[in-house]
Amino acid sequence: MNVHDSERIAGLLEDAGYVRAAEDDDADLVVFNTCAIRENADNKLYGNLSHLAPEKTRRPGMQIAVGGCLAQKDKDTVLRKAPWVDVVFGTHNIGSLPALLDRARHNEEAQVEILDALEAFPSTLPAKRDSAYSGWVSVSVGCNNTCTFCIVPSLRGKEVDRRPGDVLAEVKALVDQGVLEVTLLGQNVNAYGMSFADPELPRNRGAFADLLRACGDIDGLERVRFTSPHPAEFTDDVIDAMAQTPNVCPQLHMPLQSGSDRILRAMRRSYRTTKFLGILDKVRAAMPHAAITTDIIVGFPGETEEDFAATLDVVERARFSSAFTFQYSPRPGTPAATMPDQVPPEVVSERYQRLIALQERICLTENRNLIGSEAELLVVADSGRKSANTGRLTGRSRDGRLVHFRADDAAAAIRPGDVVVTTITDAAPHHLMADGSIASHRRTRAGDAHELSRTPMTAPVGVGLGMPGMGPAPMPEVASTGCSSGACGA
Ligand code: 5AD
Ligand code: SF4
Repeated sequence: MNVHDSERIAGLLEDAGYVRAAEDDDADLVVFNTCAIRENADNKLYGNLSHLAPEKTRRPGMQIAVGGCLAQKDKDTVLRKAPWVDVVFGTHNIGSLPALLDRARHNEEAQVEILDALEAFPSTLPAKRDSAYSGWVSVSVGCNNTCTFCIVPSLRGKEVDRRPGDVLAEVKALVDQGVLEVTLLGQNVNAYGMSFADPELPRNRGAFADLLRACGDIDGLERVRFTSPHPAEFTDDVIDAMAQTPNVCPQLHMPLQSGSDRILRAMRRSYRTTKFLGILDKVRAAMPHAAITTDIIVGFPGETEEDFAATLDVVERARFSSAFTFQYSPRPGTPAATMPDQVPPEVVSERYQRLIALQERICLTENRNLIGSEAELLVVADSGRKSANTGRLTGRSRDGRLVHFRADDAAAAIRPGDVVVTTITDAAPHHLMADGSIASHRRTRAGDAHELSRTPMTAPVGVGLGMPGMGPAPMPEVASTGCSSGACGA
């Protein structure tokens, strides 16, 4: 969500006349888009700001802005801790950034503007995309759940859903500019349809499944993913839509958080492990090769060795293709932060290591099962960065796995954004290898755009909150300057 907000910030600034600085340039403006989900993300900002302080003294015209969840949480504190910051803006008003920068410059005084509620959908702002081949599209913002560990609802507010027509218009706008893969974004995509901002739209529990099916009708859209669903609200119609819509990828990110029903209750996560595992069974019955990933928190307050053993047991049974594992991090203002029986850090850390060891073993076993199978890969831009990848390019398979493949003579012709088909020859816990010959290489418009360092610029879609939309604004020309990294966290 934050990565995509950064694309909005970039679009907004480019629209206001700013030009992206080259990597080694002295930028006139530095914007930090911050995260507050865990303490380590939270702490990073002040370290980074201290690094910039001498730079700011050296170049008085330079401006520094801090936005995102940590700014929303810390408000004036940002300025108290780092008085050399020029603008602090929150999650609800990223659209104000250019005006706040102007005002700070004109008044020679720092500006802090934090709103309690969303001013406008971020999608009503232009976006400068990081990637030529893969794009994020928000279906909703905010979250109506109250997981006791989570700071998101207090910083992102109540859920507001976009009109399906606006979501699809944005998907089409990306595909028109060559994008092949879209990831639909929401804190809880299964609740999509129950909180439409447009009062004219009837509530619709089946809206997310309908949206997936509608994505299936978009010519040129090859891969559709989404994140994140919530096990409590995950319904069979979504599984059916996934299985029956060919461009929806056989991949599901389904946060477990804990394998102990007692802890799930304390987390205020309303599903239980039997339901969770039942969903995985149904998904695999409908899509036998689906790769299922998850999020797990270790050391939630009150977690006993028995609770943790239950998590290990569910992990063993769930056979996740990968897991994002987190040590519980108390977030100020959340109910869990003040619960009794906080687990000592050394116990959390020891359990965390055991969980990682188990999941690594499962990742490796699951990945080894794929040796000998054919994989269609969307080539990604970070090829060549990792040592494991020496002499190979990198792509993502339809199920989301990372594959390092040997391209030999064909390598020079294969660009990020192109599609290749190859055969898996080896496996590691976090990636696969394909060292045989390439069965096919398809040059794509996304590959052309990447080669020319062009990434999409999408125009605002829809209108302000609470008002019926009038359809998308006309699209601008594809921008031909700017970031060519193509990096995308999808
Ligand atoms: N401590 C540790 N992990 C957390 N997450 C959210 N809040 C916390 C917290 N306070 C994890 C959850 C969530 C992911 C995005 O971050 O697993 O799914
Ligand atoms: Fe946080 Fe729970 Fe909402 Fe996810 S569903 S954003 S964990 S409150």
